[in-house]
Amino acid sequence: MNGLVLEVDRAQTADREDFRRAVLDGLSRRPRAIPAKFLYDARGSALFDEICDLPEYYLTRTETAILRDHAGDIAALAGPDCALIEFGSGSSVKSRLLLDAMKPALYAPIDISREHLDRSIVHLRRDYPSLPIEGVCADYMTFAGLPPLSASSSRRIGFFPGSSIGNLEPHEALAFFRRAWALLGENGALVLGVDLKKDPGLLHAAYNDSAGVTAAFTLNLLRRMNRELQATFDLGRFAHEAFYNPVAGRIEIYFRSLGEQTVTVAGRPFAFADGERVHTEYSYKYDIAQLRKLTQAGGFRLDRVWTDPDRLFAVAYLTAFA
Ligand code: TRP
Repeated sequence: MNGLVLEVDRAQTADREDFRRAVLDGLSRRPRAIPAKFLYDARGSALFDEICDLPEYYLTRTETAILRDHAGDIAALAGPDCALIEFGSGSSVKSRLLLDAMKPALYAPIDISREHLDRSIVHLRRDYPSLPIEGVCADYMTFAGLPPLSASSSRRIGFFPGSSIGNLEPHEALAFFRRAWALLGENGALVLGVDLKKDPGLLHAAYNDSAGVTAAFTLNLLRRMNRELQATFDLGRFAHEAFYNPVAGRIEIYFRSLGEQTVTVAGRPFAFADGERVHTEYSYKYDIAQLRKLTQAGGFRLDRVWTDPDRLFAVAYLTAFA
């Protein structure tokens, strides 16, 4: 099954050395921060799947409903025989909605988690035996070196769901669109899922669920550092923290030190003040006007936008312009 997955550039994937360097850098900087991509080891990816099912986490449910309602419209816009390229594939039912409606000539999921990618390809092969699948294990933010996808001259349609675009800072989001533009080509298009600005109370609840799954997801990063970097984080002495920053228009996610303490990571000591935070993730929320501006700057025309009746979430169809 591994033969299906193209190993792009080991240095670009979240391997151990990459992780060690990023953590040591991130903890040495002020303010402290660790890149969010390291949240998604096997356990982190499984916890994230759990987040997607939480009652407070409306995003996945809402996006899936929009896709279910409009997969036919998307397929009609995309036309026949396209190559569907998914950025950060995860394991979701969302791709299946598009596969069923579009019947692409090729499906190329790109994911940073090898385990996640392998598992979802196994399931897809079972359910879509005649669909050519080319998995790519890579970080989609640095996908300049992606191998040529084999579907000959067919049109490339990108799929970037889950409001992952919101996890990029605006300048990174712009860079993402530019790289996607280069990959998808002049005739390409991108199906994008974006979480919209809304009542901060709803946003807060989505990232502070009552079952504590989001907290477990954040603290899993500490576990991963303990396991892979011989770190000594006491998981009882750090807490998940997430809040909406209305000025920046984003959810900010951290882990916070409960008390003054020193933690060793890869043999190096790091002192934490009481209440000191380490940033892990932003989740920017957009309105349609902001989205139009950003995608336009990245080389795409916002052709269609579909939302749910409460306007919580948007799925956009973007066409690459010359
Ligand atoms: N793309 C998801 C989002 O912004 C990622 C996410 C959901 C997330 N919940 C999280 C990231 C909790 C970190 C912590 O909603």
